[in-house]
Amino acid sequence: MIMKEIAFFDTKPYDREYFEKTPHDGLHFKFYVNKLNAETAFVTKGCDGAVAFVNDSIDEKVINELYKCGVRVLAMRCAGYNNIDIKAAQGKIKILRVPKYSPYAVAEHTMAVLLCLNRKIHRAFNRTRDYNFSINGLTGFDLHGKTAGIIGTGKIGQIFIDICRGFGMNIIAYDPYPLENSGIEYVSKEELFRRSDIISLHCPLTKSTYHIVDEEALKEVKKDVYILNTSRGALIDAEALLTALKESRVGGAGLDVYEEESSLFFEDFSGSVIQDDVLSLLVNMPNVIVTSHQAFLTHEALSGIAEVTIDNLNSFFSGKELKNEVTTNQS
Ligand code: NAI
Repeated sequence: MIMKEIAFFDTKPYDREYFEKTPHDGLHFKFYVNKLNAETAFVTKGCDGAVAFVNDSIDEKVINELYKCGVRVLAMRCAGYNNIDIKAAQGKIKILRVPKYSPYAVAEHTMAVLLCLNRKIHRAFNRTRDYNFSINGLTGFDLHGKTAGIIGTGKIGQIFIDICRGFGMNIIAYDPYPLENSGIEYVSKEELFRRSDIISLHCPLTKSTYHIVDEEALKEVKKDVYILNTSRGALIDAEALLTALKESRVGGAGLDVYEEESSLFFEDFSGSVIQDDVLSLLVNMPNVIVTSHQAFLTHEALSGIAEVTIDNLNSFFSGKELKNEVTTNQS
């Protein structure tokens, strides 16, 4: 059997583990720890395909370099594709993705962050480890009866809605493509900002959603609203959020993603001085929880990602229909 050489970028130990244990006859992965960008694309020389992730920078220059090196398929091991110049890839490299792996993983993480934030679990954990059993300052509120405003009612948004309903919360939502017969009360973006006690973002990053939570929106929100973002960092203007938190207009934020995350997230900088002042301040606020893009990180999601990515590559190399192709029409 002729093996297809696949350059695998931004490899972490868990990626390697799950891809190696998923059957992949005919594919040989070359694992690289570096991200895919203009400096690293040359390593694909002689490769038939590449596998990349959310914080790789796949602009026109990178696409052209990959093509020059022989790559004809780029399989994203994620759902989002806002980091790729899809137009530049047209007619050169097929872009495939994993549209759905475990939407439960992301929705459940969103609720985990909300519960931690609201009930101050992160602060209680630190206190009791220091034998400080005081509960002063740890007051939260009942989620029951509060209004969750969901922006984006796709796969993840719908599961998060179900979870919130389980807590007895009222749901309102904004989505330009509302679901029919869902029982969800759809409202305008402006009304959602005004009425929600919790705002959770579950839409993709596009031109129309870039900074959907900006200075203007943050002027409209209910005082003490909690803002949750497990979708893409650039949905929120982080500087505007920081100001709103400082001015106590926003009660708290749970962020699994951050606009400038690409050079920081997934890496260990515990011995370094971080140069991003906005992130440093956010991380240090008692009412902000930052997780580093880990909402997807469950056994089920990692298995699903490996299976679908390998299936995508096999379909491409065997000339089968590409059901997970990303085309310009979608972006
Ligand atoms: P989906 O495609 O099933 O749903 C997205 C929804 O957003 C759709 O209903 C769509 O109509 C809606 N939408 C589109 N434009 C909108 C706009 N302007 N305003 C409001 N809603 C809009 O996507 P899915 O699977 O639910 O994923 C949502 C997002 O979660 C992804 O785009 C991705 O960025 C993020 N994600 C994050 C992960 C993490 O580990 N933190 C892992 C997987 C996905």
